[in-house]
Amino acid sequence: MLYFHFTLLCENIFASFIKFFFNKRINQFVYFLIGFIVHGPAGPLVAPLGSSVVLLCYVDELLLMEDLEGEWRRTDSEALVHLYQDGESRPEAQQQDYYDRAYFFTDQIQHGNFSLRLDNLRAEDEGRYTCRVYSQQDSGETEVQIKHECLIVSGSDRSVSAYDGEDVTLSCSVDSHIKPEHIEKVLWRKTDGNILVLLYQNNETLPDSSDEQYRDRVEFFTAEIPKGNFSLRLKSVRTEDKGVYMCLVFAGGLSANATAELEQMGESTNKTNIKLCLFPLNLNEQPCWQWQFLLAPPTVQII
Ligand SMILES: *[C@@H]1O[C@H](CO)[C@@H](O)[C@H](O)[C@H]1NC(C)=O
Ligand SMILES: *[C@@H]1O[C@H](CO)[C@@H](O)[C@H](O)[C@H]1NC(C)=O
Ligand SMILES: *[C@@H]1O[C@H](CO)[C@@H](O)[C@H](O)[C@H]1NC(C)=O
Ligand SMILES: *[C@@H]1O[C@H](CO)[C@@H](O)[C@H](O)[C@H]1NC(C)=O
Ligand SMILES: *[C@@H]1O[C@H](CO)[C@@H](O)[C@H](O)[C@H]1NC(C)=O
Repeated sequence: MLYFHFTLLCENIFASFIKFFFNKRINQFVYFLIGFIVHGPAGPLVAPLGSSVVLLCYVDELLLMEDLEGEWRRTDSEALVHLYQDGESRPEAQQQDYYDRAYFFTDQIQHGNFSLRLDNLRAEDEGRYTCRVYSQQDSGETEVQIKHECLIVSGSDRSVSAYDGEDVTLSCSVDSHIKPEHIEKVLWRKTDGNILVLLYQNNETLPDSSDEQYRDRVEFFTAEIPKGNFSLRLKSVRTEDKGVYMCLVFAGGLSANATAELEQMGESTNKTNIKLCLFPLNLNEQPCWQWQFLLAPPTVQII
């Protein structure tokens, strides 16, 4: 009886012994044989320019913190995106492009989580990234691909026509994926002569930057800007305004543009065209006459 009890006790002690010594290390012993597995995201990350993305990279087994190292590099160029070494982040080792844009989740590293947050996604960030985790005995890696959404700017297919003195709207909208605060610059310019019509930069319209020809005659629809609508209002159109206008948008290192054509209809007179055609059998040679009437405003004469 005593013997039996002793065995039981012994077994318990043995179990505790195993727990105490091996529970955390047994996995490492296995890694030593087979290497550990670094997990990443299931597929490519697709995000809008200017946004922040989280590049997942973690080891879901417990590793010893000491000598644990993690690094992110561009797969193609091996450029260092971020490094965790000797128990701390090493921003000084980062390649300049990523300085102040790439961060570890510091509190997550103790759990073997080297996920990276990359801020202000730029066009040139597109590509593959490798995350490598090193422990004393071994290392493992995973790869993440980043794709950005395109910058699409659309205008209007039709040209805009106006009489002298009228107001017109030239269309320009940035596709809705991009948040307006991520739009670095929008400029409207007249393509012939390269004249600056109106500029929007750093979240604000800069009317003083407009060329003299357009000063105080152009504006954005302020309420529409948050929707990415940078359509231009051009007031009291003049003859020399006729031409092609370009709306150029810059965001996340990319630029895209749309054009709008303004056609001048001459002076603001009430013109009416009357066309008279005869319809002979040969339709290719329709003889036509056209008259243009100027309609004067009706006058009332009191006799
Ligand atoms: C790792 O950290 C990131 C960022 O906090 C988090 O989104 C992710 O869920 C973490 N992964 C694990 C396995 O804890
Ligand atoms: C524009 O505004 C947003 C938030 O309102 C801000 O995060 C961003 O830094 C601003 N951009 C510039 C260039 O000032
Ligand atoms: C942009 O705003 C203008 C003025 O309100 C409007 O006429 C135009 O339809 C808007 N464009 C889009 C694409 O919403
Ligand atoms: C405008 O966009 C077209 C392509 O859509 C491009 O070929 C052209 O270079 C752009 N123009 C400017 C001034 O950026
Ligand atoms: C035509 O004449 C009327 C009356 O004078 C005026 O109100 C209107 O604006 C004119 N139309 C154009 C297109 O100029």
